[in-house]
Amino acid sequence: MTFSIDQFRLDGKVAVVTGAGGRGNSIGRAYALGLGKAGAAVVVADLNAEGAKAVSDEIVAAGGKAIAVGVDIVKPDSVAAMAKAATDAFGGVDILVNNAALMAELGYLPATDIPLDQWNRIMDVNLTGALICTQAIVPLMRARGGGKIVNQVSGGAFPAMSVYGISKLALVGLTTTLARQLGREKINVNAIAPGNVMSDAGKQLTPDDSPFIKFLEASVAMRVRGQPDELVGMLLLLCSQAGDWITGQVVHVDGGWVLRP
Ligand SMILES: NC(=O)c1ccc[n+]([C@@H]2O[C@H](COP(=O)([O-])OP(=O)(O)OC[C@H]3O[C@@H](n4cnc5c(N)ncnc54)[C@H](O)[C@@H]3O)[C@@H](O)[C@H]2O)c1
Repeated sequence: MTFSIDQFRLDGKVAVVTGAGGRGNSIGRAYALGLGKAGAAVVVADLNAEGAKAVSDEIVAAGGKAIAVGVDIVKPDSVAAMAKAATDAFGGVDILVNNAALMAELGYLPATDIPLDQWNRIMDVNLTGALICTQAIVPLMRARGGGKIVNQVSGGAFPAMSVYGISKLALVGLTTTLARQLGREKINVNAIAPGNVMSDAGKQLTPDDSPFIKFLEASVAMRVRGQPDELVGMLLLLCSQAGDWITGQVVHVDGGWVLRP
């Protein structure tokens, strides 16, 4: 097959992005807008239904196709309703981006002291939520002969320095397991591990004057801070025909964070 730049286009594809309706400048919003610009019809899904509507309106205003869905990814009935809304609006699903998670609200909880109910809540949203969405959407991908799943993990999992990091490392495990299981069905499953991204949530978690940022500034190979838009190119590669031979990978988009000593 001869390479064509059109292999990055997503015209005729349907993408579901969870966690895409959050606070103003979020990674999910950048993902949803990027997928829309590449031609996909986008299902903008979030616990925050109002925020999801604002992002889907942005996509439509830019000439794209989108709907907003309020969803709680830890509730199978709510996720089933999201899958139905996608099918009713656009006839199926080709792309699932498991981006919703708890992060900024968690701080750095030490594993030795975390109350079990908090541990379970983090694992429910950051790990089991992605599984529930995958279980609901994979049958729709099978019906269309294949698909792409991208799980949003984190540089904070390499190594896991907090319970949040543990949840994201577990999501890496789900990524590789699903990649093996679904490869022959032409469903690619990969993960993006962003470094320190200046979404509104990222700014809340790591303000400019935090000691952690000072430490990173002295040790990261290229640049500590990135913008949500700097992740979109990798997402489009992993979601498009250009990425057909890529599966089971964790791609670090982080200015060299993972290389720090
Ligand atoms: N910002 C960073 O520096 C950074 C770095 C690495 C990874 N990440 C990951 O990127 C993703 C997006 O992060 P962000 O910075 O845009 O944060 P964000 O808080 O803006 O996005 C998370 C979204 O998930 C939604 N959500 C939470 N629980 C949900 C549930 N039960 N059901 C449905 N939606 C739910 C929230 O409403 C929110 O819109 C997360 O997975 C985060 O862990 C962020």
